[in-house]
Amino acid sequence: MALGKYSRIDNNRRSSLSYCSTVTMVVFVALCLVGVWMITSSSMVPGQNDVPAQENKNEVKEPVTDSMASNTRQTDSTESNARQFEDSPGDLPEDATKGDSSENNDNNNNNNSAPENQEKKSNEETNQEVQQTQDGETEGGDSKTQNAESETGETKSGDSENDSGGRGGSEDNSTEKKTDSDDNEKKSDSDEMNRKSDDKGDKKSDSDNLEEDEKKPDADNNDMKSDNSGETKDDGQIEEKVDETNKKESDNSSDEQKDGGKATNQSSNEVFPLGAQSDLLNETTTQNGSWLTQAAESKNEKEAQQSSKQKSEYTWKLCNATAGPDFIPCLDNWQAIKSLRSTKHYEHRERHCPEEPPTCLVPLPQGYKRSIEWPKSREKIWYYNVPHTKLAQLKGHQNWVKVTGEYLTFPGGGTQFKHGALHYIDFINESVPDIAWGKRTRVILDVGCGVASFGGFLFDRDVLAMSFAPKDEHEAQVQFALERGIPAISAVMGTTRLPFPGRVFDIVHCARCRVPWHIEGGKLLLELNRVLRPGGFFVWSATPVYQKLAEDVGIWKAMSELTKAICWELISINKDTVNKVGVAIYRKPTSNDCYEKRSQQDPPICSQSDDPNAAWNVPLQACMHKVPTNSSERGSQWPEQWPARLEKTPYWLLNTQTGVYGKPAPEDFTADYTHWKRVVSKSYLNGMGINWSLVRNVMDMRAVYGGFAAALKDLNVWVMNVISVDSPDTLPIIYERGLFGIYHDWCESFSTYPRSYDLLHADHLFSKIKNRCSMVAVMAEADRILRPEGKLIVRDKVEIITELEKIARSMQWEVRMTYSKDKEGLLCVQKSIWRPKEVETITYATA
Ligand SMILES: *[C@@H]1O[C@H](CO)[C@@H](O)[C@H](O)[C@H]1NC(C)=O
Ligand SMILES: *[C@@H]1O[C@H](CO)[C@@H](O)[C@H](O)[C@H]1NC(C)=O
Ligand SMILES: *[C@@H]1O[C@H](CO)[C@@H](O)[C@H](O)[C@H]1NC(C)=O
Ligand SMILES: *[C@@H]1O[C@H](CO)[C@@H](O)[C@H](O)[C@H]1NC(C)=O
Ligand SMILES: *[C@@H]1O[C@H](CO)[C@@H](O)[C@H](O)[C@H]1NC(C)=O
Ligand SMILES: *[C@@H]1O[C@H](CO)[C@@H](O)[C@H](O)[C@H]1NC(C)=O
Ligand SMILES: *[C@@H]1O[C@H](CO)[C@@H](O)[C@H](O)[C@H]1NC(C)=O
Ligand SMILES: *[C@@H]1O[C@H](CO)[C@@H](O)[C@H](O)[C@H]1NC(C)=O
Ligand SMILES: *[C@@H]1O[C@H](CO)[C@@H](O)[C@H](O)[C@H]1NC(C)=O
Ligand SMILES: *[C@@H]1O[C@H](CO)[C@@H](O)[C@H](O)[C@H]1NC(C)=O
Ligand SMILES: *[C@@H]1O[C@H](CO)[C@@H](O)[C@H](O)[C@H]1NC(C)=O
Repeated sequence: MALGKYSRIDNNRRSSLSYCSTVTMVVFVALCLVGVWMITSSSMVPGQNDVPAQENKNEVKEPVTDSMASNTRQTDSTESNARQFEDSPGDLPEDATKGDSSENNDNNNNNNSAPENQEKKSNEETNQEVQQTQDGETEGGDSKTQNAESETGETKSGDSENDSGGRGGSEDNSTEKKTDSDDNEKKSDSDEMNRKSDDKGDKKSDSDNLEEDEKKPDADNNDMKSDNSGETKDDGQIEEKVDETNKKESDNSSDEQKDGGKATNQSSNEVFPLGAQSDLLNETTTQNGSWLTQAAESKNEKEAQQSSKQKSEYTWKLCNATAGPDFIPCLDNWQAIKSLRSTKHYEHRERHCPEEPPTCLVPLPQGYKRSIEWPKSREKIWYYNVPHTKLAQLKGHQNWVKVTGEYLTFPGGGTQFKHGALHYIDFINESVPDIAWGKRTRVILDVGCGVASFGGFLFDRDVLAMSFAPKDEHEAQVQFALERGIPAISAVMGTTRLPFPGRVFDIVHCARCRVPWHIEGGKLLLELNRVLRPGGFFVWSATPVYQKLAEDVGIWKAMSELTKAICWELISINKDTVNKVGVAIYRKPTSNDCYEKRSQQDPPICSQSDDPNAAWNVPLQACMHKVPTNSSERGSQWPEQWPARLEKTPYWLLNTQTGVYGKPAPEDFTADYTHWKRVVSKSYLNGMGINWSLVRNVMDMRAVYGGFAAALKDLNVWVMNVISVDSPDTLPIIYERGLFGIYHDWCESFSTYPRSYDLLHADHLFSKIKNRCSMVAVMAEADRILRPEGKLIVRDKVEIITELEKIARSMQWEVRMTYSKDKEGLLCVQKSIWRPKEVETITYATA
């Protein structure tokens, strides 16, 4: 059976081990063999000292596009796809890129019948499947078969901090080394294996795995580290199951097998499900045996190391731009900004991306330190990470920011919260109990957020705030927010729509945001109307609400007329006496009655053809979209209360629609969630050497249904879900389940400051964009966005993984783990503090 996989622990520190004397190795291997011979039921797996799981059983998803089906069904599918995902972003082609399959097989595929079943099943499926082949990618149907045929392997995942330490004991050194060489060997094989999938390579890697397994118990026995075993098993048996199609059957059987394996404490069972194991044994009998394989591995290991030394076909330079360490390519394009004809509508704060995205690396500010951990970061951050004093000078008296020694501190909250943001938050809830933070209200938009204290404290009420502010004279406010571990993006209410779908925010909040809502036919307020859910609230606490200066009174009058004209009902106008601010709360209607009853159709209703979800570079228009009334249409009902909302399949996902992975949409949605829960709990939480208590700002660069973010719900993180503009528009689904996200084109830079995320997750992103733009530029962007020591997890085709790994190494990133199986791979890399010496001056970004 075809089986190609490799896994590798990669750690610079370990390379020296490979030079250890062959004598030692030979002796050890001999010992191992003897050990295996004698103690066949030994159960221990090497323990770890300070690092979570080093062992993984990772299964990587497989693409499942049936190429035949795609040819025959293409026409159909394009149509239906267009119908079903009509939420397509803006003017970009609707591309239903289909990525990954849901049907992956896992453990029990060794059962001969499994492939057949799967094939049958998938054929059925592809009959209804929307083939999404606009990008011309067809990932052969054979992958399914292969997948089905492949079996679970035990993998060691790398981790890192101290692998030899992790393994403990001196004998373990050799185990380590062996693993290492093993893995490398497999890796060097992998290309070939992937191309050919030939029996030989596969068998070989199988035997390698087996050998590993045989040896580990042995090493452990020598070690006598039995106390670790229990723990290790939990951590270590990491499994990513991707089977979603045959969920019932395979889940059942594989779980059974897994549990059985764990329960029996039999080393071999523990590592392999029963069936897979026998298959492996079967195959080893045809092998040369460990000795020779081992030797070959070592040889290949050396070769691999050689070649990794030659790596640098990529050369990196440091970006020299006026913005220095805070360079945001699309917002600091001075060349474009200078040539603007007008800046009246804040055009100069909007995105102006360079023709070619930069491929240089952004410098680090002097004295940069690892960001303070959440929740402490909400109160204080390192001054040298964001060395801007202007805001403190400007806003110090308003209690925003203070420079306190080597920290910047955020006492109390932002502008209007002299006495605490939480008081203000609770005051809003008291004013309008329907708001019910953390239940009815879950996802809000905070306009002109300042340092995002409001959003920061809303976490205490289980509310997610998408905060934005322009990159303007209030130097770096969004950067402060991100450094504090509070979600925010750089954006402005300018001439184009905000990069969000229509009708997704439960509340839009604006405190002292000084946006001229009332001018130009209320264009800007109508943009808020677009993104606000029917029945959602607009919370406005600005001086016109509670001050009596002539200007304020004028604005209040204009606002009153405008809100009336757009049928927003003034629910409450109230004063937070503690914070001394007045708050006006409006509600968007849930029906079209008011719109129709207006004596003047001004502002007008948008034309039927105007898609409220089209938001990528779409100019603002002073019109209103009708409220959906069809009960099967999104926006006609309020979502479930949080947290039920997270798991609930949105009522407007219909069985007649086809999901991104090819199944009926509701099923697709559920399967995706199940998949990510499993991957996260079985692999990401323990198997990658990621210390999640150091992770706060997370981005899923290709989010689909937001399953990854949903699976991280119980961690103290927030996830920015990004929907590529050339992917099916599933962003409304993400919002419906109480998560948030944004549209973006990864061929451009993201509207965030450098060093703002702790973890990036890219599931089949790079293979999708490879055809449109340079992977090097996207990696340079990933480097820009990531904080030093931040991680990037990539799941993609093996050739992509291989390429990315090379790029990552050339940036001196630490490769934490690579794993691949069949044609799919998994890579975890960690950004380092390294910066290139050579400098590249970015002329367009020079003021
Ligand atoms: C393997 O397939 C046979 C026949 O279809 C079935 O009876 C058996 O339960 C399967 N075993 C597993 C482990 O799935
Ligand atoms: C890691 O290994 C190095 C030497 O290989 C050792 O000095 C260090 O103490 C180890 N760290 C841990 C945490 O075991
Ligand atoms: C294993 O590691 C220890 C400590 O790092 C070292 O002293 C010992 O020589 C190593 N053993 C072998 C066989 O490499
Ligand atoms: C799981 O397996 C058990 C026993 O093999 C069977 O009784 C049960 O129906 C199966 N469950 C599912 C969901 O297939
Ligand atoms: C597995 O082995 C450990 C350590 O020997 C033991 O504590 C545990 O109870 C065993 N588990 C089972 C299910 O037998
Ligand atoms: C395992 O051995 C059996 C009997 O020798 C054979 O029928 C089967 O094809 C073998 N399996 C593999 C995967 O080679
Ligand atoms: C066994 O080893 C020999 C010599 O290294 C090699 O040519 C042969 O392909 C190996 N056989 C297997 C099944 O790996
Ligand atoms: C960076 O760019 C500026 C403006 O073009 C230039 O004056 C300066 O010399 C450059 N710095 C380096 C180190 O090249
Ligand atoms: C909001 O107000 C309602 C009604 O007064 C109350 O039941 C609820 O606990 C409040 N929620 C929060 C988060 O303050
Ligand atoms: C509501 O929408 C569904 C699905 O789009 C459609 O089949 C149905 O006819 C619509 N109902 C009404 C009353 O328009
Ligand atoms: C993770 O980081 C926290 C905070 O720095 C630290 O206390 C903890 O020991 C770390 N955990 C691991 C497993 O390294």
